[in-house]
Formats: sequence, structure tokens, C-alpha cells
Amino acid sequence: MNVLIFDSNEKLNETGAGIITGLVQTNPRAVLGLATGGTPVGVYEQLVSDFRRGLVSFRQATSFNLDEYVGLPADHPESYHSYMNHHLFRHIDLPAAQAHIPNGNADDLEAECRRYDEMIADAGQIDLQLLGLGHNGHIGFNEPAHALIRGTHIVDLAEETRRANARFFNSVQEVPSQALTMGVGTILKAKMILLIVRGADKAEIVHRALTGPITTDCPASLLQTHPHLVVLLDEEAGRLM
Ligand code: GLP
Repeated sequence: MNVLIFDSNEKLNETGAGIITGLVQTNPRAVLGLATGGTPVGVYEQLVSDFRRGLVSFRQATSFNLDEYVGLPADHPESYHSYMNHHLFRHIDLPAAQAHIPNGNADDLEAECRRYDEMIADAGQIDLQLLGLGHNGHIGFNEPAHALIRGTHIVDLAEETRRANARFFNSVQEVPSQALTMGVGTILKAKMILLIVRGADKAEIVHRALTGPITTDCPASLLQTHPHLVVLLDEEAGRLM
């Protein structure tokens, strides 16, 4: 694992976006695994800037998002569909038909999970999976549990996760209680994983995830087993490393 700690958010964003831009420059047909949440916003801004400066085109790339809330209309401002459009998709040339996000409003959610896994399988391997980290060690929406699920599945969100995400909604009651998430098996199958963590409130969990026991109680700890894991931390999140 390669852990880099940055003294400025700007450098962290440039490095994160630089890795993605570099990958797509070398392999224009790259399959990208994308994440949401507060963490990757700055990286997406930098990617948009790379695109606008003509450094990279996403025309032949494909993307798969990690997760989506269940039951939140796709055009709700806090849906991950809206998030991705707002922060990335509408600013770059990635064709809409090649940008995939699980449909949390499908009539048959189980069938939607299978459809999503089939699309990922058809695309071949995910070349780079971008990840943030939940305060309880979740990745995507794979919450701590006795057992983790390999493929895309419906998950009941932990109260802690709903509270953490309440900052994006008017109240915690408005945060959906379920989501669809790519499974840990799919995440670990990516050729490269780019984990980004920011903020003092994540210092303990990132230390536990990367140096503690490998356990389903902390899903991110499974990342220790990945052969090509790159971790970008700001100084606060990297305080205990
Ligand atoms: C969210 C997302 C994750 C994200 C994590 C951390 O709920 N489902 O993909 O990495 O929790 O979010 P944030 O970056 O806002 O701290």
C-alpha cells in the first residue's frame, strides 16, 4: 500500500485527479469506479479542470458509481445521480450511456442489483476504484457486519451513517434508510484502488482500517489485502499514521 499525506487540499486534489487523468490518457477506454460524499468533490473539480484544459477526454471511458439511496427520486438534489451530474458528468464528455449508477427507484431492487453486476462484468475489470471512508469504516455503503456481501446488494444504513449524511439533508429523518451498494468483492476486484480520506474526525478510523486487524467489523480493513492500494490523506486524517 502506498500512503501519501498532504499538507494542502489543493495538492491532494491534484494528485488524486492526476492519477485518474493519467490512467485515462494511457487507456482512453478505462473503466472507472466512482464515489460520492464530501471527500471526492475537490478531485472532481480538478478532473473537470484537466478536461477543460484539454488534457483528457472521457469519451471512450465507462464509469460505475458505488452506490445510490433507495427511494430518493433521481432528480432529488441529494441523490447520487444529482451529485454526479452536478460535480462531474455535466462538465465532461463522458457519454451518459457509459456512466452508470445503481437505480435506487427500480421496481425490483434485487433485479436491479443483478443487472448492475452484469453490466460491471460485461465492462470487464474496473481499472480504478475511487473510495471515500465512512466514520464506521464503511466503503461504498458496505456497513460493518458479521459477513460482507460480494456483489451489489440492498443495505440498511447504519444510524451512524444516516446521522453523518444528515448534513446534506434538512434532518436525519429525511436521509433514506436503505441504499444499493456495490459489494466489497467487486470493489476488491478493481485493478487499483484510490482511497481518499480527509479530516481529523477520520484519523482514528483510517488508522484502524489500514493498520488494524482485517475484519468485517471494519469493511475498509479488507483494503489491506489489495495489491494496488493508493491512499491519499490530508494531514488531519493522517495524524495517527
Ligand atoms: C457516504 C458514501 C461513501 C462515502 C462515505 C464518506 O455515505 N456512501 O461512498 O465514501 O459515506 O462520506 P464523506 O466523504 O461525505 O465523508
